[in-house]
Amino acid sequence: MSNQLEKVQELIALREKARLGGGEKAIAKQHERGKYTARERIAQLLDEGSFEELDMFVQHRCTNFGQEKKHFLGDGVVTGYGTIDGRLVYVFAQDFTVFGGSLSEAMAQKICKIMDMAMKMGAPVIGLNDSGGARIQEGINALAGYAEIFERNILASGVVPQISAILGPCAGGAVYSPALTDFTIMTKGISYMFLTGPKVVKTVTGEDVTQEQLGGATMHSSKSGVAHFATEDGEEALMLIRKLLSYIPQNNLEEAPLVKCTDPIDRLEDSLNEIVPDSPNKAYDMYEVIGAIIDNGEFLEVQRDFAKNIIIGFARFNGQSVGIVANQPKYLAGVLDCNASRKAARFVRFCDAFNIPIVSLVDVPGFLPGTGQEYNAVILHGAKLLYAYGEATVPKVTVTLRKSYGGSHIVMSCKQLRGDMNYAWPTAEIAVMGAAGAAEVLYAKEAKEQADPKAFIAEKEKEYTDLFCNPYNAAKYGYIDDVIEPRNTRFRIIRALQQLATKKLTNPAKKHGNIPL
Ligand code: HXC
Repeated sequence: MSNQLEKVQELIALREKARLGGGEKAIAKQHERGKYTARERIAQLLDEGSFEELDMFVQHRCTNFGQEKKHFLGDGVVTGYGTIDGRLVYVFAQDFTVFGGSLSEAMAQKICKIMDMAMKMGAPVIGLNDSGGARIQEGINALAGYAEIFERNILASGVVPQISAILGPCAGGAVYSPALTDFTIMTKGISYMFLTGPKVVKTVTGEDVTQEQLGGATMHSSKSGVAHFATEDGEEALMLIRKLLSYIPQNNLEEAPLVKCTDPIDRLEDSLNEIVPDSPNKAYDMYEVIGAIIDNGEFLEVQRDFAKNIIIGFARFNGQSVGIVANQPKYLAGVLDCNASRKAARFVRFCDAFNIPIVSLVDVPGFLPGTGQEYNAVILHGAKLLYAYGEATVPKVTVTLRKSYGGSHIVMSCKQLRGDMNYAWPTAEIAVMGAAGAAEVLYAKEAKEQADPKAFIAEKEKEYTDLFCNPYNAAKYGYIDDVIEPRNTRFRIIRALQQLATKKLTNPAKKHGNIPL
């Protein structure tokens, strides 16, 4: 065998060794845990055969605690690039079979390398997390590695999309990388995220709590809002990433891919002419409205189980990707509260950062009153949504279906927040407040002097309703661009988006604004 051939064979052998990560035993254990290995996950995620691995021969440089005797080619992360639906993406997958995927200095450098490349090339970064946190033997170098990654997460924010899947443990400061990215997907049963685990919690607060209760997928997708999606298993999480990316551009200078539309753009949806109940206190399901107007009823909902009083997610109109923000009258009457406000605000900012038009469907009775809300800073959370809509320069189309009262009217993409096309259904009620409340405030004193105070208030309520609880008062001032027939909503939105395709609007030059965090 020639010298060269020998070297080639050595390379092949080394590659084989690297592909085994922590070895066959560790791989078997990973499978026993119900988890795939880093390379298996990458193969599922990317287009077949598209993965190009980098830094396969990187090793840690730690000499503490006998680490100098334990080396694995590539260390605890697999990094590289490939394609999803033919579009370039950069990916890192922590390899739990190597030191529990714990982060070494060398591993951080691998991750940072692909993040830097993603920024240069303008392509999304996908992180598959499955790690015991900082490599304990490396001490401060592992911490420095995390900080390097966080800094890149921050600089990449709003430049290239960043998606995190949590497919195992993600604890301690490690949680901050996913938290800095645009979307976090967790897998039920096998993933968890927390700053301090159950043992520390027990010591510090005396609280007995399981990993699942403290930081499982169900908790984070319904209570904290940390996770945007909770999937049944790892494969579903990876397929979801592919789907999510189909709605998103490669970077902040590009537009989302246009998809061929098979749904007639002028499709009339008669059911919408009768969907709003006669009584203002009765609910209807906003999902029915969304499903009826978007292309083929295909809606990728984000944060489905968190703050259900507002619905956010991606859909298409005539093949064009849009972000939908819609109040849900079926849940807490569609009221805005702390969680709904911050949920929608972050989504609006994502859409704006990545040139995705926003379609808002409004039926909002106001902000939720009470100490629970005020003590939790509903003022600041509401201001976040206000700020997000107000600074957004992407096309903004708003349709008011029914209620739109007071501060919540302004917050939900009103005309003065630079709403581009503001439509209303004939059932819209755009006013300072609801008729009952208004009559009480204005006529409480006078009512007491009447023979029948109740009848008097009811009469004033009707007066207020006739005067203000309609769309025409707002339309009279041009605050509503048109009152539209509900069944024609799809067509009107599509026409509006077509018109807005060349929209150019920039905000005043500044270092950055000071969004009420
Ligand atoms: C070094 C680690 C490690 C770590 C796990 N391993 N975590 N090695 N540093 N942080 C190793 C284990 O020793 C073991 O090695 C292998 O990975 C698999 O781990 P197991 O414990 O066998 O797996 P499992 O039972 O599934 O438990 C997983 C685990 C547990 C829950 C993650 O390993 C664990 O609690 N690890 C420590 C977590 C932690 O405290 N990390 C530091 C957090 S502080 P062998 O050789 O036996 O196979 C932190 C600060 C970051 O991360 C700050 C950033 C700003």
